[in-house]
Amino acid sequence: MSDIKLRSAGYPVIRNVPTTAPRRGALIICIYIIIMNFWLTLQKPISVLAPMEDVTDSAFRQMLLKCGRPDVFFTEFVNADGLCSVGRDAVIHRLRYNPAEKPLVAQIWGTKPENFVKAAALVEELGFDGLDINLGCPVPKVVKNGAGAALIDNPSLVKELFLAAKEGAPNLPVSVKTRIGFKKKNTDSWITFLLSLCPAVITLHGRTGKEMYRMSADWDEIALAVKIRNELKSKTLIIGNGDIQDLQDLKLRSTKAGTDGGMIGRAVMRDLFVFCDTPKELSIEERFKLLLDHLALFDKTWNGTRDFSIMKKYFKLYISAFPAAPLLRAKLMEAHSTADVKKALDEFMSY
Ligand SMILES: Cc1cc2nc3c(=O)[nH]c(=O)nc-3n(C[C@H](O)[C@H](O)[C@H](O)COP(=O)(O)O)c2cc1C
Repeated sequence: MSDIKLRSAGYPVIRNVPTTAPRRGALIICIYIIIMNFWLTLQKPISVLAPMEDVTDSAFRQMLLKCGRPDVFFTEFVNADGLCSVGRDAVIHRLRYNPAEKPLVAQIWGTKPENFVKAAALVEELGFDGLDINLGCPVPKVVKNGAGAALIDNPSLVKELFLAAKEGAPNLPVSVKTRIGFKKKNTDSWITFLLSLCPAVITLHGRTGKEMYRMSADWDEIALAVKIRNELKSKTLIIGNGDIQDLQDLKLRSTKAGTDGGMIGRAVMRDLFVFCDTPKELSIEERFKLLLDHLALFDKTWNGTRDFSIMKKYFKLYISAFPAAPLLRAKLMEAHSTADVKKALDEFMSY
């Protein structure tokens, strides 16, 4: 009997007959899954800011809120062992965020399942929307410990780490960010294995760990990963990563490779407006204003606890595309504080 017939017969719909009860149950389960997995609520292609150590901190992410935000933010990666050690204060700052940055995924790295349980629990407790496991970092300090991209050659440990993360953060979608192989391309078996774990998302950077950044990202391998996912009828989303220049490029590459979206990394260091539909031309005054906004956010967020020299890597982002920019940048490199930068900008404007 349908809901309408039940209502007209004077029965409360809640006491439904078996034909509608399973449907209602399925609907509740679907709503529950969507609430638990924010990724499923996003429109495709999904745009994502790449995690970048010492670049994409909370102050930088808040700059993107002003200029044009991605659908999803990631934190810089955080070492799970560090989060579980007495020296936790040295790394936990990477998990600092402003709620306006949500949906926000925290990324962890490491090799110890017991610490993944604890780190994941902390990430859930701190109110993040998702948890990501780094299986792609190729830098020596990480791979020499068997972590990051080195884990591509250690699937049994990856399984343990993934299950540990799920155990620690049972209410968060757990995703992985990886490459197409460690020493050589291995997309087929690696992605098939990862899909067997049912992560919410696989973000795939189209290079091997060994390639670092030497050649162009191989988007044919990313398309292959999508094909494998489709053949296996897996529900895992695939986000492509590597060399995306801006939002238009993200859309084109996602369509061509069939991914659910794309992740942009280094291009944000050239243009803060990469997540906007149309490119933005900035006057010198607008550039200065943005730099001062960033400095204000840096000071407010870190309050002297992070070295000011970190800010210097952003100067080129703001101080460029006008004739005297290289000279002014050289001057700014001597700055030790926001006050020094303000003084140099004022002097420049008064010439
Ligand atoms: C300075 C820097 C720091 C990075 N830090 C991280 C990190 O913490 N976690 C991670 O998964 N990838 C990290 N990456 C890799 C990027 O997230 C991204 O996968 C890579 O840069 C390729 O994307 P792109 O071509 O859009 O830059 C880093 C890359 C750079 C350049």
